[in-house]
Amino acid sequence: MEKQRCTETRTWKAKSFTALLAAVTAIAFTIPVEAAQGAAKYNAKGELQIPINYRQWVFVGAPVTPNDLNDGKAAFQEFHHVYIDSASYAAYKKTGKFPNGTVLVKELVTVGAKSSSSGNGYFAGEFSGIAASVKDAKRFAKEPGNWAYFSFMGENGKALASAKAQATAACNVCHQQNTEDWVFTRHYPVLRAARPAK
Ligand code: HEC
Repeated sequence: MEKQRCTETRTWKAKSFTALLAAVTAIAFTIPVEAAQGAAKYNAKGELQIPINYRQWVFVGAPVTPNDLNDGKAAFQEFHHVYIDSASYAAYKKTGKFPNGTVLVKELVTVGAKSSSSGNGYFAGEFSGIAASVKDAKRFAKEPGNWAYFSFMGENGKALASAKAQATAACNVCHQQNTEDWVFTRHYPVLRAARPAK
């Protein structure tokens, strides 16, 4: 008798869990991709807040412009670790397009060691800066391609908590050339591999 009740409880629990799972799944699938992501957060002044969980996003590539090859002063020093928010990655994989709300983060890292047991090379040193780009047809309606650019480089190498969009000429203009929708996909093997075949 005792045993019987116990099984019933377990069955009930299993049933309600299945129902809950179904409900959650239904919600997850009915939210459109664009509304679901929300990777870009703004403060009351309309400035983009520094993205926080981007190291849990999708890492798409690591271009490196070492000071060595740039007269000792690379424009963006030196490794560029680039991430895309997970929901936009999923959308890109499906459609080959960057949806509204896409956020890309470029984390800068200096060159540290130049040799290791694997040979001579450039080995990542310390984090030195963070920049981001956001596509938003409503918020950045006036920007070419609807992309806005943000640099969180504060004084004394400290990261800013939030940043206002850079002037179009400072960043966007360069990103218009030889890119796929303002993104340097050709330098990101992960995005190239994700792009659906035409
Ligand atoms: C002279 C050209 C040039 C200018 C100006 C420029 N960028 Fe870029 N940016 C690049 C290139 C090339 C890449 C990809 C390869 C790399 O990281 O070097 C890139 C990559 C990025 C990425 C990664 C996503 C992507 O679009 O590929 C971000 C974010 C970014 N830049 C932000 C900025 C910000 C913020 C500014 C202005 C302060 C800026 N960029 C100005 C050339 C430029």
